[in-house]
Amino acid sequence: MEKRYKASITGIGSFLPKKILTNADLVKMLDTTDEWITKRTGIKERRIVDNGAATSDLAIEASLRALDDAKVLPSEVDLIITSTITPDCLFPSTSCFIQEKIGANNAGAFDILAACAGFIYALSIAKNFIISGSTKTVLVVGAECLSKITDYTDRSTCILFGDGAGAAIVQRSNGKREIITTHLFADGRQADILTLPAGGSKLPTSHETVDSRSHYIQLKGKEVFKIAVNNMIDVIIKTVSKNNMKIEDIDLIVPHQSNIRIIEAAMEKLNLPKEKAFINIDRYGNTSSASIPIAIDEIEKAKMLKPGNMVLLVAFGGGLTWSSSIIKW
Ligand code: UT7
Repeated sequence: MEKRYKASITGIGSFLPKKILTNADLVKMLDTTDEWITKRTGIKERRIVDNGAATSDLAIEASLRALDDAKVLPSEVDLIITSTITPDCLFPSTSCFIQEKIGANNAGAFDILAACAGFIYALSIAKNFIISGSTKTVLVVGAECLSKITDYTDRSTCILFGDGAGAAIVQRSNGKREIITTHLFADGRQADILTLPAGGSKLPTSHETVDSRSHYIQLKGKEVFKIAVNNMIDVIIKTVSKNNMKIEDIDLIVPHQSNIRIIEAAMEKLNLPKEKAFINIDRYGNTSSASIPIAIDEIEKAKMLKPGNMVLLVAFGGGLTWSSSIIKW
């Protein structure tokens, strides 16, 4: 039998643009209040790129930080996988722009699309490349400029989204931050409740698509909310039981940051204390693919965990897609 390896996250990095869009700023632009946004979402502010900046600009900074953290040279990277719903352009892939700018001249590069669940999808692909023995070093990126596809005249969506990037280096296990498991799920029957309809082959960009604002995120918030809570509960239960664990064995849950009420409702139904879920949505809003790697970078830098702690990552988003992973810190 071929030798199989274990995979670890050997380096983490994140990058957020400096510009802050606060609830007070949004109040000046829209019919909304700080109270409504805070109470309904948990968000106080989000980061926004300057005009002219693209997703790869954020991703490159996060990637360089992750490489530095892992003490890995760009030339040692074999593969770059970027999860994003806001690529610099439809093609070439954002991963190719990252590859060129960081000088990862020996790496293959491609993007994946699984919306907010995408970073864990990419982590899962990286893990499988490592355990098969075919690849030694994978750079996994979650990066978004959601401000570029957000309709700032639509108060029900524009309050939610922010920009940012996170990156992880995945290599053969060094015993730290071992990726124990990943689980991927999808339900295409619900594709239309969270979508960006225009700009692809079905509805190419035209004057009409711009006039109808179809090149911006369209969200049926209430429907997504209900499914998100139920799926989060379901996937947490499935993930621990498939790995012969109990929920009490998990030291920290790192959920995708889409709405604090989704996270709190799931924690309550699971009879878990709120503190068991990591939260930073107040500062960054929903950054889609970037939210999980930004969170795990903050957790690492704040030294919140001890070696051996079990961390459950869980994410949910458009597609619909959802995903989970257990990392042994
Ligand atoms: O990352 C992928 C997953 N994404 C999500 O999980 C998002 C899930 N959905 C949500 O987070 C929530 O549904 C929203 C935050 C988007 C909306 O919250 P909600 O509690 O579901 O509000 P709603 O859409 O039912 O709207 C309730 C009321 C409406 O007014 P009426 O019809 O009751 O008079 C809205 O027009 O709140 C109004 N409203 C606002 N009021 C002030 C909607 N947006 C705003 C606003 N400020 N920004």
